[in-house]
Amino acid sequence: MTPKARKGIILAAGSGTRLYPATFPTSKVLLPVYDRPMIYYPLSTLISAGIRDILVITNEADRPNFVRTLGDGSQFGVRITYALQKVPRGISDAFIVGEDFIDGDPCTLILGDNIFGGYDMERLMNEAAEDEENATIFTRWVPDPKRFGVAEFDDEGRVLSIEEKPEEPKSEYAIVGLYFLPGDAPGKAKTLKPSKRGELEITDLNRLYLDEGRLKMKKIDARTRWIDAGTFDSLLEASLYVSDMEKKNGEKILCPEIEALKKGFVTKAQMQEWISRNKCNDYFKDVVRFMKKFKGPL
Ligand code: G1P
Repeated sequence: MTPKARKGIILAAGSGTRLYPATFPTSKVLLPVYDRPMIYYPLSTLISAGIRDILVITNEADRPNFVRTLGDGSQFGVRITYALQKVPRGISDAFIVGEDFIDGDPCTLILGDNIFGGYDMERLMNEAAEDEENATIFTRWVPDPKRFGVAEFDDEGRVLSIEEKPEEPKSEYAIVGLYFLPGDAPGKAKTLKPSKRGELEITDLNRLYLDEGRLKMKKIDARTRWIDAGTFDSLLEASLYVSDMEKKNGEKILCPEIEALKKGFVTKAQMQEWISRNKCNDYFKDVVRFMKKFKGPL
């Protein structure tokens, strides 16, 4: 059977109250992280996972800013469409809002403020993408698991339990904001009841897969940086991380233009055309420098 085209969703609908007044003018997911809007990072992650059909879920007020920022996605060789989440009903609600878009295909959801730095992510995502029958979550060791969804698992990496922000976490492994779900996720999301905080929790949706023996877990290596950039300090940490890595590597990281070139989503000529429509500032100069070395399609 040929694999189905996997869909991608970026959930960017939050009102960013934790970041007031920084988010008075616009969504948290459009604030700059180093030299680009935050949404470029989850977008770059989806592109590196080979996903070309992407739904960006926003709130009503911020939608025009997202459209102005990303347009139809053609500059990255992807198709971007938009949907509204009018009230913040939780992460699982994204599968209900996106039901028509998903149209029964497997779908990868990434939270707009989750930044994944490098090591091994592409391999892990490729493995998860091949499995269309099961749901895959990713976990990473954190010092403060109480703040997150937490997974308990055995020595073989089989998930035993998952809990949302537990008082007494059963492990130190947080479930990160990247979920590879099968095509039946919208139907399952509709059966969920709101939690105490009034949200359709992603942990509750994943637990339905766990109960059916269909939940897989991939551990993210400690060398991979994961930043949930939703606080003042983590926002700054993210900017410093990206700037530091880029200076050390002499190359941009998590850059959707570069990932699109690597994946063959755009040719060098198409990228050149996109760059020429913008000011060739330091950001685009780095993309041009990458293009000169890159042996991909002209
Ligand atoms: C959400 C999820 C949680 C997950 C986290 C990752 O938390 O509910 O399970 O670990 O994202 O960033 P929230 O951002 O809603 O507190």
